[in-house]
Amino acid sequence: METKILLKESEMPREWYNIVPDLPSPLPPPLHPGTKQPIGPDDLKAIFPMGLIEQEMSSERWIKIPEEILKIYTLWRPSPVYRALRLEEVLKSPAKIYYKYEGVSPAGSHKPNTAVAQAYYNKKEGVKRIATETGAGQWGSALCFATNLFGMECTVYMVKVSYEQKPYRRSMMETWGGKVIPSPSSLTESGKKILAADPNCPGSLGIAISEAVEDAATHKEVNYSLGSVLNHVCLHQTIVGLEAKKQMQMVGDYPDVVIGCVGGGSNFAGLAIPFIQDKLTGKKVRALAVEPVVCPSLTRGLYAYDFGDAVGLTPLLKMYTLGHSFVPPRIHAGGLRYHGVSPLICHLLKQGLIEARAYTQRPVFEAAVTFARCEGIIMAPESAHACKAVFDEVERCKQEGKKETILFNLSGHGLVDMAAYDDYFSGKMQDVALSESELNRAMADLPKV
Ligand SMILES: Cc1ncc(COP(=O)(O)O)c(C=O)c1O
Repeated sequence: METKILLKESEMPREWYNIVPDLPSPLPPPLHPGTKQPIGPDDLKAIFPMGLIEQEMSSERWIKIPEEILKIYTLWRPSPVYRALRLEEVLKSPAKIYYKYEGVSPAGSHKPNTAVAQAYYNKKEGVKRIATETGAGQWGSALCFATNLFGMECTVYMVKVSYEQKPYRRSMMETWGGKVIPSPSSLTESGKKILAADPNCPGSLGIAISEAVEDAATHKEVNYSLGSVLNHVCLHQTIVGLEAKKQMQMVGDYPDVVIGCVGGGSNFAGLAIPFIQDKLTGKKVRALAVEPVVCPSLTRGLYAYDFGDAVGLTPLLKMYTLGHSFVPPRIHAGGLRYHGVSPLICHLLKQGLIEARAYTQRPVFEAAVTFARCEGIIMAPESAHACKAVFDEVERCKQEGKKETILFNLSGHGLVDMAAYDDYFSGKMQDVALSESELNRAMADLPKV
């Protein structure tokens, strides 16, 4: 029995999979916030390169991965699928547990899969600098790694709570030549507005997005780059699931359930969407998205048009949202603190093609620690949400007497997140609940469409 299922570099997928043409009903389009009409390519030109705008709106099923991107991907791709044999033994699991490990990338997560692609298309169109946001620091470090390879500058607005909790992520970004600014900052009008209302604001992904978008929109040679949420980001991440399908095939297996954590939705999309393609043609497979209880967009949010950022600069996206002004309580999984989720993932949930579930921090870390003690890998707090769901699926299999096959996306390592593990071991980590009134407050700010 193989522990690691490995593909050769020559077996790496040459195309990304776009699920849009295969959807049973059309994806609600993004709307212009002023006219409330569907946006066109021209509306995005100020901050994105045409190569990415075309992918964002594409109805082509397969999109060729340029050779230059494939060449860079070989620095860490194809990534391994592991069979978690030791974990199965410790959990006395009747289910087989597999995980796709994206922590092998230079930045330590799945994020470089899209960072390299985005840097490539920006470079091709002459962009000199990219501005972006980062939550946990994973996306920011991935983009700094990528822009550096293409000789571009990168400015990263980093959610303040993560900037303070994760100083080494900042060091990584600086090592790859990036400039890191704690958000909210007083460098942008968006940041100033937030700080005027709450000088101690811990920041959120929504706020950092506002700052980065403003930076790009107000500087000619600067573009904006988003690490999740948008169609083209989910598209780039499908290489994860396409590889995983080949790897499962190599061992003659197929998952009953695929699991991923959800911040903006990209790592879940990357693993799950190629399997959902099979589901649409009659294959039996479940896809389970996992989020934190304190930021429950999919499990408690409203399916409505909302801004992608906190201040209201972006087009309106149809998604399960907690309201763009929602600032989630501080948790260690900084990358899961986003008020919305990718419209593509939300559409799949609305259509009943995926499921969603939420957990609090402590059981999530308990699962991650058990995993580390069996499998060795110390995972990112974000990925640990998916891990906890795996444990619960194993429990369900025991109760139902089923021998299923589980595949989850171990989206990143947690070696720069050890402060979170310290908090867990010292007993300082809190399980915070989210009151109905806090939820309702931010949802009252939803734009009228
Ligand atoms: C390791 C890791 N996993 C998951 C996520 C969540 O993002 P997404 O839902 O786009 O995959 C992040 C975000 O920063 C992350 O760093």
